[in-house]
Amino acid sequence: MADFPWDSLSAARTAAARHPGGVVDLSIGTPVDDTPEVLSAALAGAGNAPGYPTALGTAELRSGAARWLQRRLGVHLADPLGTDPSVIPTVGSKELVALLPTLLGLRGRGTVIVPEVAYPTYEVGAVLAGLAVRRTDVPPPDAAGIVLVWLNSPGNPHGRVLTDEQLRDWVTWGRAHGVPVVADECYVTLGWDVEPRSVLHPAVAGEDHTGLLAVHSLSKQSTAAGYRAGMLSGDPALVRTVWEVRRHLGLLVPTPVQAAMAAGLDDDTHVDAQRERYRARRERLSAAVRAAGARIDHSEAGLYLWVTRDEDCWATIDWLAGLGIVAGPGAFYGPAGARHVRLALTATDERIAAAVERLAG
Ligand SMILES: Cc1ncc(COP(=O)(O)O)c(C=O)c1O
Repeated sequence: MADFPWDSLSAARTAAARHPGGVVDLSIGTPVDDTPEVLSAALAGAGNAPGYPTALGTAELRSGAARWLQRRLGVHLADPLGTDPSVIPTVGSKELVALLPTLLGLRGRGTVIVPEVAYPTYEVGAVLAGLAVRRTDVPPPDAAGIVLVWLNSPGNPHGRVLTDEQLRDWVTWGRAHGVPVVADECYVTLGWDVEPRSVLHPAVAGEDHTGLLAVHSLSKQSTAAGYRAGMLSGDPALVRTVWEVRRHLGLLVPTPVQAAMAAGLDDDTHVDAQRERYRARRERLSAAVRAAGARIDHSEAGLYLWVTRDEDCWATIDWLAGLGIVAGPGAFYGPAGARHVRLALTATDERIAAAVERLAG
């Protein structure tokens, strides 16, 4: 494994901390607002949990997940309570992303496709399984050796949303070559300028999810990253394979967290309220970034601004550190990200206001 890249930001952190108004850390997308009571009450209410949870998840959670997918994303899952599960809970989505190639039994034979500029854990998961990685945003002309495709829409770090046509191209390609296509959709409720589409939506996948998986998470939409609440849905045969290995490994979502997930998935009010908080922060911060002379690319959805001054990202990191602001270097996400930085919207209103003031000079 490569060194954990965030450690290389420590010099910028130290420089930013010298600002008299304190540091504004926009480098990591960790939610800061309170977890809504609908989740915390359900968690507390399920605190008496003497027995082991199942890797499959409670029936309540699986039906709630299927209802959420239908209501929010227009996705119709095959029977979530059937013998082949079409959805299972995961311990947040990061472990699933990192373990998926291993859980699918792909160890040591082939190449995983990841986006050109990508969340690093796709690569971590490939390396862990002894697989090679190829970065591309378009289906390659030949499929030799490719065993898995990762899509990420809305994307981290750049907030790009794949169009229906782009999604369909990947689905068609995956099916033609028998390669599973997995879409990480953990920012799917956070579309600003466009409405993100799930890979499992009928307009993309048709009625059949064969070869397709989608990954969702309550970390951002429900401000519950500390709960570790995610899920995997789609092709029942693939979900079954993953589920069976997870049972052996004991990759179990704690019972109280499953109860909190079910409650959170049934409630749109808190998701919409949190979204409005992020919308307001995004508007304020993006206006200030532009007024300071930087450009924002993509960022039509998700929790980040993808910012460039058409210079090496470390120069932009230094500029921002001088203002007491810590950003994420785009180079962490692949060579094509080396001239951007990522600013997270996951800071308090007070810290966002401080950043806005400093950017205004
Ligand atoms: C693209 C992407 N996928 C997955 C995750 C993992 O999120 P979690 O494990 O909190 O569900 C993140 C976290 O930031 C992410 O940006």
